[in-house]
Amino acid sequence: MNVSDSEVVARLLSDHGYRPCDLPEDARVILVNTCSIRENAEKRVMARLDYFGLMKRQDPQLKVGILGCMATRLKEALLEHPAVDFVAGPDSYRHLPGMLGPSPTAPVQVKLSATETYADIKPYRELSRGVTSFVTIMRGCNNMCAYCIVPYVRGRERSRDPLSVEEEVRDLFAGGFREVTLLGQNVNSYHWKPGDSTAPVTFAQLLERVAGISSLLRVRYTTSHPKDMQDDVLRAMARYPNICKHIHLPVQSGSNQMLKKMNRGYTREDYLERIASIRRILPGCSISSDIIAGFCDETPEDHAQTLSLMKEARFDQAFMFHYSQRPNTLAARHYQDNVPEDVKIGRLNEIIALQNLLSLESNRADVDKEFEVLVEGVSKRSREDYFGRTGTNKVCVFPHGNSTVGNYVRVKVKSCTAATLKAEIITENNRS
Ligand code: 5AD
Ligand code: SF4
Repeated sequence: MNVSDSEVVARLLSDHGYRPCDLPEDARVILVNTCSIRENAEKRVMARLDYFGLMKRQDPQLKVGILGCMATRLKEALLEHPAVDFVAGPDSYRHLPGMLGPSPTAPVQVKLSATETYADIKPYRELSRGVTSFVTIMRGCNNMCAYCIVPYVRGRERSRDPLSVEEEVRDLFAGGFREVTLLGQNVNSYHWKPGDSTAPVTFAQLLERVAGISSLLRVRYTTSHPKDMQDDVLRAMARYPNICKHIHLPVQSGSNQMLKKMNRGYTREDYLERIASIRRILPGCSISSDIIAGFCDETPEDHAQTLSLMKEARFDQAFMFHYSQRPNTLAARHYQDNVPEDVKIGRLNEIIALQNLLSLESNRADVDKEFEVLVEGVSKRSREDYFGRTGTNKVCVFPHGNSTVGNYVRVKVKSCTAATLKAEIITENNRS
């Protein structure tokens, strides 16, 4: 989400004569796009600000601005940091050229909007040059998961005009991109009501429209919400071979008590029923998840329920966190953050260890199978190898042969670790 927002900001500023540079030391303006989701994310930003503060002592002309979620959360207080000159929240980026101009406008702009989608701004893709790109289809979130700060810092949910989404994707395809990931906090509640009397556009319909642009364009999306994900999206995925067979479906916890307390709007049984639907309609589809360890009042039994759900769902991948209390969220206001830090970490480590096993098993099941992979670039480990991902979102490394970045190759998996498939090319450039 932040990469996508940074590309919008880069466009707004490049239209006013600014150019990106590679090193902060070469910059006259530094913009820090921030995340508030966990305390650690904020701590990292504060450490960067201290460094930029030192740079400013050497070069008092340097301007530093804070963007993103921390801007909304901390507002004017951020100006107290010696490095910070201005603060712009996620819906205020159109103010940036004015804030940086010769007679600067107010240095703190953090009002959230019910309508801003930046639909008319063509993101500045030079920041993420390559073959894969993110396309924001909605902003904000209307859910109130008890632990989550997103609705407070990014505002109410709003969907973007599907025509502007299609236009952006067409442009990307024409510019050589071969994969787009449609982004929203809860894509299943995407809803566009046209001005005329035609029926509203749902996420499943938007997905089909984007997938219809070219069979050479891979389409991914994230994030699905278990309470809103319906079979219509699964059927759309089944209809289009170029919609990647991977679903990110955060469960957060396997315990019904925790799910209720988290205000997630589904039970463990509902979640497993959604998994069963995916397996039924999309055999071979991979599933990833987000899991939080040590939410308020979590007991050893609740934690055991999470481990058992992970085994039942057999996640291919997961992002795992320990609970970090965020100011003013429902949980911060109503519950006690009462699971001791060492217990949270211990549970998180058990979750990570189990997921490593599940990921390894999932990857082992792919050995000797063939997959189509979009070549994304040179492997970090070896210049002789390329890397790309399977439709199921597994990173695949293979000797590059005569293939080229941006093309599809057919590979056969030879071996694996929990994180990577090692493969060989069977057919080069089989679709280009
Ligand atoms: N503490 C820990 N993890 C969190 N997440 C969101 N808020 C918190 C929090 N306060 C996790 C959730 C979400 C992912 C993006 O971040 O798992 O799905
Ligand atoms: Fe946060 Fe829940 Fe919205 Fe996701 S769905 S952004 S976890 S409030």
